[in-house]
Amino acid sequence: MSNSTWKFETLVIHGGQTPGEWNSASLAPIYQTASHRFDTAEELSEVFAGKRSGFIYQRLRNPTNQVLEKRLALLEGGLDAVVTGSGMAAINDAILAICRAGDEIVSGNSLFMSTFLLYANVLKKLGIEVKLVESADLGAWKKAVSDKTKLLFVETIGNPKLDVPEIAKLAELAHAHRAPLIVDNTLATPYLFRPFEHGADIVVHSTTKYINGHGAAVGGVVIDAGRFDWPEDKYPDFKPFKERKGKLACLDKVWREIHINFGTTQSPFSSFLTLIGSDTLALRMERHLANAIRVAEFLDQHPKVKWVNFPGLAQSPDHAAAQAQFQGKGFGALLTFGLETEKQCFDFIRRLKLIYQLANLGDCKTLVIHPWSSQYVSFTEESRRANGITPDLVRVSVGIEAIEDILEDLDQALKAL
Ligand SMILES: Cc1ncc(COP(=O)(O)O)c(C=O)c1O
Repeated sequence: MSNSTWKFETLVIHGGQTPGEWNSASLAPIYQTASHRFDTAEELSEVFAGKRSGFIYQRLRNPTNQVLEKRLALLEGGLDAVVTGSGMAAINDAILAICRAGDEIVSGNSLFMSTFLLYANVLKKLGIEVKLVESADLGAWKKAVSDKTKLLFVETIGNPKLDVPEIAKLAELAHAHRAPLIVDNTLATPYLFRPFEHGADIVVHSTTKYINGHGAAVGGVVIDAGRFDWPEDKYPDFKPFKERKGKLACLDKVWREIHINFGTTQSPFSSFLTLIGSDTLALRMERHLANAIRVAEFLDQHPKVKWVNFPGLAQSPDHAAAQAQFQGKGFGALLTFGLETEKQCFDFIRRLKLIYQLANLGDCKTLVIHPWSSQYVSFTEESRRANGITPDLVRVSVGIEAIEDILEDLDQALKAL
């Protein structure tokens, strides 16, 4: 049984599993089965009716997935979790469980590209309006949030603007308007920052990134702090979920209403890979955070580099907020920097020998991408710029290789420009 007094570095390895279960296997087995057999119709009926616990069908629940759910809930300090087939599925599940047609969301505008597209293309079509505000501008949030707001959504460190909003202040604002705050904590991870300790109500992650750490599986998670009370006059359709699950009404709604019916299920094999990856999260994050500072400082001094955006640099407008919020532990491991032209960015990427160019982040390998010409290529020029993407920008996800090798590769590719 996981011990709630264990430190993060211990929980990350032992959280969610009990010695002796699964025939004493030390790793959670992969329950690769679509469904589970029952002896009697009475038994199956009781499990369907929620009168006894049990697994029925993989799209509903799966034992391997449940180990990951318990571990991630413990790491974030939440009550329980639902793992999903991707980070986007987690974001969809959380938002759609809370909002319906006619509702309004206020969200930071510094967002992962697909979250932005989800708002613009999908939620709009469903009649859910999203007001976007500068993520780190509390005044803008105050102007936009009203008693009509059904939820506030923000990324701990915005991808790719890398701004750092004050989560405690946003939680206070949300609660003053009787609305929950959802935090996408993908870029920070619970090693660097635990949003529930700052008042957030729901945390989502793309586990594809640092939590897995090896680029081995796509996945996501919705974690519920179990604190928000979902007032009946504002959230009338929460009533049956509150009656059934009390504090976990929201997670029950996420699971029962959206996750099951949209089929946003995680494969147990992906959960298995993510569990193995997560064992080393604390150790990896320590190195990611330290390497990122070294890379930012190196690029900042490099004659070929025009500018560097990283909240760990003193000149960053988010430096003070990041220092305070992350308590000196680090500043994340994603950064962006500018070269002279788009062509220089392409030349730089072509010359890299160690560092991989690919569309992911949070891998133990150092990764680069030129977002203007790749992930954002279908956006208009105006909306690319509004998302902080310019033609001269290269994004780096700093990995955990030897720092000397990372710097040498960056240097040789830059010097050749
Ligand atoms: C901050 C953030 N949230 C969510 C996602 C979506 O995650 P996934 O690709 O696992 O769906 C990403 C992906 O890059 C991300 O960076």
